[in-house]
Amino acid sequence: MTGRAGGAGRTDGRTGRVAVVTGAARGIGAATVLALAEQGWAVLAVDLARDDPALPYPMGSRAELDAVVDAANRTAGEVSAYVADVRDPAELAAAVAEAERRWGGLDAAIAAAGVIAGGAPLWQMPPEQERAVLDVDLGGVVNLARAAIPALLRRPRPRSGRFLAVASAAATRGLPMLAAYCAAKAGVAGLIRALGAELGGTGVTANAVSPGSTDTPILAESARLYGLPAADSFAAQQPVHRLLDPGEIAAVLAFLAGPGSSAMTGSVVPVDGGLAL
Ligand SMILES: NC(=O)c1ccc[n+]([C@@H]2O[C@H](COP(=O)([O-])OP(=O)(O)OC[C@H]3O[C@@H](n4cnc5c(N)ncnc54)[C@H](O)[C@@H]3O)[C@@H](O)[C@H]2O)c1
Repeated sequence: MTGRAGGAGRTDGRTGRVAVVTGAARGIGAATVLALAEQGWAVLAVDLARDDPALPYPMGSRAELDAVVDAANRTAGEVSAYVADVRDPAELAAAVAEAERRWGGLDAAIAAAGVIAGGAPLWQMPPEQERAVLDVDLGGVVNLARAAIPALLRRPRPRSGRFLAVASAAATRGLPMLAAYCAAKAGVAGLIRALGAELGGTGVTANAVSPGSTDTPILAESARLYGLPAADSFAAQQPVHRLLDPGEIAAVLAFLAGPGSSAMTGSVVPVDGGLAL
């Protein structure tokens, strides 16, 4: 399938499309890997896959990443695990190179890796936690854009390359005790708008989703930071009166990753059960 941007006429259930997804070991990233694989994508599933000493809650593990890959490989897709830290531009460049080497090109890069910290006003937040939030949640998206967009542009015209990021309802709301997180997510929204304009008529687009409260370990950590008994406590604030499932965010990301989203660029799409209303 070298150099193919489409894949029409395949008979093996594959689309011929290739993605790199960060934050793939669990939560929204894992659900996105599965959604793409079910649609027949080849996916490099990237995660730190070890704990971050700056943060007091566990990251996704290597075992979780391998389990996602195993489940995805039982669908129409072809998925491989790749350990990288999104804060390291060289590691992301190597991940993109690996996807191109394995599958002949890149059609979508999805930045889902993220961390949360706070629970105190910004000026009282441990500096290493503030740094982790800004460097992973904003720096990691910038790093993926820098590594992946040239690969998306290496596909021959007519292209349908997709750079996608996971922002947050926190991009547009001032959430107390989460100032660094809000700053990083607002930065992601601004980055996506600018990339959409920069990519112009290349056929490559840039879009983001802004999830509301979604049932993943980040939300459990947010509940802890606010002194709430459990993540369920966030359901009442959301107009749909429930937490979202990671698969519901992944469904929108999988649509945005496909050729059918061609009219959208620079969009930051709320997928939030009405949270930002
Ligand atoms: N869950 C929610 O309510 C919610 C709401 C809005 C936005 N988001 C965003 O969704 C994205 C996915 O979060 P989630 O809810 O699935 O959380 P999660 O904690 O379940 O998953 C995050 C994944 O990112 C990985 N990761 C962390 N640091 C990394 C690094 N430096 N390099 C590579 N991988 C790293 C973790 O190991 C983990 O597997 C994040 O960007 C988060 O900010 C989540």
